[in-house]
Amino acid sequence: MAILPIITAPDRRLKVKSKPVDAVDDKIRQFLDDMLETMYDAPGIGLSAVQVGVAKCLITVDVSHDDEDNAPLYMVNPEIVHYSDDKGIYNEGCLSLPDQFADLERPEGITVEYLDYNGEPQKLLADGLLSRCIQHEMDHLKGRLFVDHISAVKRGMILRKLDKARRQKQTA
Ligand code: NI
Repeated sequence: MAILPIITAPDRRLKVKSKPVDAVDDKIRQFLDDMLETMYDAPGIGLSAVQVGVAKCLITVDVSHDDEDNAPLYMVNPEIVHYSDDKGIYNEGCLSLPDQFADLERPEGITVEYLDYNGEPQKLLADGLLSRCIQHEMDHLKGRLFVDHISAVKRGMILRKLDKARRQKQTA
């Protein structure tokens, strides 16, 4: 297992659209293990492969908030097949946008189909934080960040702040 460097915005690599995986083999499983370790280390509740520079349709999620009873989900080629009509607002953050948050409206519930760690097809009904987190990570697979849901003015402010913080870090 290895902790992988997480790409932070603004970065062109975060805008790349991810490609579906052909088969869940040992190489993919090892990468999923690395992704999960990277996510826990950050710490975060969700991570997409593209955030560590691999544009493949892979995400890891764990909203359990409990070190002793982790409930990791590995999703390969996830696809949302249903959105609920009711929507909710949640203050979202992202490991690729450190210390930045914005209130976002999204559908409350989803039904998602995916391949699991063993390559078995799964169907999951999710709501609350889990639904939110999966929708957020799946945005990454389309090259979208949570700031792409907010106004251009607010987005510009956040991205300039991050750009400045990175330049200060590089010269420090
Ligand atoms: Ni994110």
